[in-house]
Amino acid sequence: MADIDPKLETGRCPGPSYTDMLHADTRRAPDYLLMESVPDLGDAPLSTERYTSADYKAREDALMWPNVWQFAAREEDMPDTGDSVVYEIGDKSFLLIRQPNGEVRAFYNVCLHRGRKLRTESGPSLQLRCPFHGFTWHNDGSLKEIPCEWDFQHLADRDMALPELKVERWQGFILVTENLDLPSFREWIGPGVEHYDNWRLDECHTAAWVGKVIPANWKVTSEAFMEAWHSIVTHPQILGFTADANTRYDLYGDHMNRAITPSAALSPHLKGKDQFHVFKALAEFTGSGDARSRRGGVTENEDLRGFDPADPWLARKVLAAAGRESFGAATGLDFSDATDSEMLDNLTYNIFPNWSPWGGFAPNILYRWRPWGDADHCLMEVRILMRTPKGEKAPKSAPMFLVPDGEPFAAASHLIGTALAGVFDQDMGNLPHVQEGLKASHNRQIELGHYQESRIRQFAQTMEKYLSGELPKPA
Ligand code: FES
Ligand SMILES: [Fe+2]
Repeated sequence: MADIDPKLETGRCPGPSYTDMLHADTRRAPDYLLMESVPDLGDAPLSTERYTSADYKAREDALMWPNVWQFAAREEDMPDTGDSVVYEIGDKSFLLIRQPNGEVRAFYNVCLHRGRKLRTESGPSLQLRCPFHGFTWHNDGSLKEIPCEWDFQHLADRDMALPELKVERWQGFILVTENLDLPSFREWIGPGVEHYDNWRLDECHTAAWVGKVIPANWKVTSEAFMEAWHSIVTHPQILGFTADANTRYDLYGDHMNRAITPSAALSPHLKGKDQFHVFKALAEFTGSGDARSRRGGVTENEDLRGFDPADPWLARKVLAAAGRESFGAATGLDFSDATDSEMLDNLTYNIFPNWSPWGGFAPNILYRWRPWGDADHCLMEVRILMRTPKGEKAPKSAPMFLVPDGEPFAAASHLIGTALAGVFDQDMGNLPHVQEGLKASHNRQIELGHYQESRIRQFAQTMEKYLSGELPKPA
């Protein structure tokens, strides 16, 4: 069995580790969970200008966004022929359209006459007729019609097809890039991407989709979800069932990293609590046991038949078994080989630059953070991906619910549950003040924890590679 280098165990939270939990798993833990990937990226401070400066944002817009694979849509957002998705980032606007053969093409969402956006909303498309003067394209991007054609004879010999982006599909995600020379998505990410092969997010669908404009830079916001150790102060209600400081952080190449935050285990910050406290804390958190809370239903009085009440990992074993049973019953799928970890833990993977499709088999959270207007705002999107029951077609995504300006995530509790909304609102209690603080900083720099904030450093270094021209590497 692959194991980790003991040297890596130094500089970690004392006490049992995530690796100890894997060794106690009721199933054999796969190498992709056991193996650590912890390159040393140094300890230099980061400049605050990467979060606050309009010039820095302009360089991101020019040098980074066009040269990366971007998560533009989920398959179930546009299942039928002619379905379209308007995907916007910064000043760019793209239009994805489902073709009759099932493929997806992506175009610049701009009329080649005088530049009006062709569509301003996602939805079914029979053809692309510009609302200004009526230049019209077929859904495959070829020109259909120019009104008053006698006045445009000079265009007769020009290529008037809509310019296209490169499109790839992976795990139910539709990915686009403006850089037609970029390597394939899997090659671009490199080692690590194969972790998803078992998790089959293409067999999931969007069960809830919420967006909120946050008064903080998109990196300030995304980085608040790249480490777990703020839980002790910001989210104390989850410590009873979240081993926050035992979180494993791994870095892969330039474009992927992960945090695995163990669940159904006590935080090392809590002293004098036993396994029954885990059940109690989790039941209090999830309330009704709504599956969207990522639990298969949990009560304070779990059925412990067949379990050893003195097992130090009792709660993990009981709750993983409960998840296998309840998610299995709800979907007709067989989770009997799935590790406790993949049934329970927060497998918080991030893909550069701005999205986080969680791994594992519990309902998967999916985040995306996009710059919104200026450097001081972003749009944060949260989706819950649920397994599509066996033999059924994934339901079409309901449109994103945008939390009204000035309202908390709690306004979306009907979609993501009160427990999760409450956690996000605790984060929102920090983020605007981080943005303000970064602008008010005297030394204009921030410091990062060597291990627990290593994912932030990795992506910051990757960003610098794009801004300096070191990336992208050509195909
Ligand atoms: S701008 Fe589109 S038809 Fe004129
Ligand atoms: Fe948080």
